[in-house]
Amino acid sequence: MVNAEVTYRACDSEYNRLELGSDAGGPKQEIGIVIDNGFMAQTIAKIRLSAPYIAQNTRPGQFVHLRLPGLEAHILRRPFSVYAADARNGEIQLLYQTVGLGTEHLSTLPNGTHVDLIGPIGRGWQPPRDAKRVLLVGGGLGVAPLYSLASTFTTETEVHLVMGAQSADRLICWKPFSTYITEPCLHITTDDGSAGQHCFTTKAVKDLLEIGAFDYIATCGPEPMQKSVAALAAEHQTFCEVSLERRMACGIGACLSCVVNTTSGLQRACVDGPVFNAQEVIW
Ligand SMILES: Cc1cc2nc3c(=O)[nH]c(=O)nc-3n(C[C@H](O)[C@H](O)[C@H](O)COP(=O)(O)OP(=O)(O)OC[C@H]3O[C@@H](n4cnc5c(N)ncnc54)[C@H](O)[C@@H]3O)c2cc1C
Ligand code: FES
Repeated sequence: MVNAEVTYRACDSEYNRLELGSDAGGPKQEIGIVIDNGFMAQTIAKIRLSAPYIAQNTRPGQFVHLRLPGLEAHILRRPFSVYAADARNGEIQLLYQTVGLGTEHLSTLPNGTHVDLIGPIGRGWQPPRDAKRVLLVGGGLGVAPLYSLASTFTTETEVHLVMGAQSADRLICWKPFSTYITEPCLHITTDDGSAGQHCFTTKAVKDLLEIGAFDYIATCGPEPMQKSVAALAAEHQTFCEVSLERRMACGIGACLSCVVNTTSGLQRACVDGPVFNAQEVIW
């Protein structure tokens, strides 16, 4: 668990007052620079930022809290999973869907814009070290935190990905996964049948679990989907982690706006998660 130490000093805006602790690899404020930002599909975009500290310290499943330049006075920081981090080049990539004011504004930032980030934040994925067969399940943009997880397995682990979207035009980000996952292990589903299997991700997950056992399941996407995947994992006695994208305000464990009910009591998705053991979540 990353535990950000926070101190406050007098300043105008609440979020200008943030000073984070200096625990090695823990969350820090860093000014990222936009290197590339553009749409990949109608409402789905990718932004590449120079942010060396975050790039070097992010673990799969962690996120950044981003303050939108020009909107500081209007909206809170926005959380985004780190889709990819390149420690050598000091760059990170985020995949995002334009759903409101913040993400619409994000999509307009030109190259060279300075963006105030805090990261890396949160508890990332913790797959068992000796996992021989793993299943990643991403619904929509829920695939974002799964890409860097896929990169961590060696060739000794058979990695499967079930990736679902409403329709083919929203399946933009499956191709990069083929770097780490062989074609027969990529399982695409669409709600309207315009690509892959015509079903929800959970049907594909159910079928795969009936054919053979997995040592680990990781899932991110709409919460009802994650809940169903968690139930299937429990049925098949498989260790499963979920990444819960709760609404967040402070992102540092102070405001309790992101609490998740678990078997160990209320936990904060921002610092105790966003990745949780699925069997500990009380849905
Ligand atoms: C840990 C974490 C990681 C995330 N990673 C990504 C990512 O990689 N890519 C991505 O596109 N989005 C991600 N999100 C969601 C993202 O933070 C929101 O979509 C974003 O904050 C919306 O901001 P906005 O100002 O555009 O929308 P708003 O105007 O704030 O809201 C517009 C609509 O989006 C909904 N919404 C806003 N925030 C969330 C949320 N956290 N969960 C579900 N619905 C929400 C609102 O209910 C509303 O209907 C993540 C969220 C969390 C908590
Ligand atoms: S967002 Fe404030 S405690 Fe999690």
